[in-house]
Amino acid sequence: MSTLHRLKQTVSTRIQQRPVTQAATSRIAPDETVPVNFTVNGRPATVHVAPRVTLSDALRDHLGLTGTHIGCEHGVCGMCTVLVDGDAARACLLLACQLDSAEIMTVEGLGKPEDLHPLQASFGKHHALQCGFCTPGQLMSAYDLLDKDPGIGRDELPEQLSGVLCRCTGYRNIVDAVAEVAETHPNGLPAPRNCAATELLPRASVGGPSRSAVGVDEVDLEGIAEIRMPQAEPTVSIAVHQQVRAEPQQLWSVMSDTERLARCLPGAELVVDFGNDRYKGRVQVALGPVKLAFLGDIHVVERDETTHTIRALVQAADASSGNVQAEVVVAVDAAGSGSAVRADARVHMTGRIAQFGRSLASDVSKDMFGQFTAALDAMARGEEPAEVKPPSALAMTLRIPAARVRALLNRIRGRN
Ligand code: FES
Ligand code: FES
Repeated sequence: MSTLHRLKQTVSTRIQQRPVTQAATSRIAPDETVPVNFTVNGRPATVHVAPRVTLSDALRDHLGLTGTHIGCEHGVCGMCTVLVDGDAARACLLLACQLDSAEIMTVEGLGKPEDLHPLQASFGKHHALQCGFCTPGQLMSAYDLLDKDPGIGRDELPEQLSGVLCRCTGYRNIVDAVAEVAETHPNGLPAPRNCAATELLPRASVGGPSRSAVGVDEVDLEGIAEIRMPQAEPTVSIAVHQQVRAEPQQLWSVMSDTERLARCLPGAELVVDFGNDRYKGRVQVALGPVKLAFLGDIHVVERDETTHTIRALVQAADASSGNVQAEVVVAVDAAGSGSAVRADARVHMTGRIAQFGRSLASDVSKDMFGQFTAALDAMARGEEPAEVKPPSALAMTLRIPAARVRALLNRIRGRN
């Protein structure tokens, strides 16, 4: 069956006949999730998704593989084309829970910037992309076509590639690019370049929280890498002080217990304790409907009981929004009948998260710190702290113009 026919037939019969994961067929609440184990670009991955979550959303939102673009979400445009068990398929029409044990290849598996697949190189050479939105779908569709029919003639290409629409209408150059690869590799398409080499990162979002896309066991075995802070100036420097009722020694009893301390931080949880004051942890920050879920490493490099000071290095990533590295110092001094809690942080951001800008990052940090010190104070005085919640857009909208928040959210939510 040709690629065109496979694509126009929504999803192939072989894929349609895959058994749905057993958990997904039992009665579960709408916000519950089921685990799905599959292989993505040669690496095992587990996602925890609601049964209604599509493969395209699972790839993008749970594994951070945003190379799979979403256009119509109705099986019409072909932008979301990936390979499932070796066949081209529209990821927007497949439920992730259909794909337990499937082998999936996305455009990220095809090649990497320093080692492009011949198809990718040819697209560049022939200027076969304008805005680039359809390009991942075009590449995966072309890969499937030439993989199964390497000797295909140029005349057949326009029809065979018509399963993926290009809104920029640059079809002539796309055909030129694919034709050159077909002509230069008449006996078979070179293997993908980047399978089994892509780090998959989890992200909690669509269809309920995803505890970990790679699995805690795998994290457990890996330990954490040495954290090295960049030499450059930080993106944001934060210094906040707050007066609390608890005495320094009471606060220190919580600060010296990392598990209790983590419970004071809004949206945070410790995932793994590696010993030697090294941890894997997760923090969620909600920006309106957008939830950023950072998973990363924490190393407490200094605990000084005399000065009631702890210093920690953190590096974390949100799969679709970027990376954060931070050096955080929290210190407590006696002040009046209680204490003054001081937090200083030097935060380096890369990726979309850097679009927050200094003022917004500072607002979010202050919001978090306010909740943190209140919870720390309550716990130190033996009270059950009020629930600490991830900082929300609400607090920010009180401080900054609504138009700025809207513009920011649109940028952060924008799909690649
Ligand atoms: S987004 Fe899947 S076919 Fe259009
Ligand atoms: S290059 Fe813009 S949609 Fe195809």
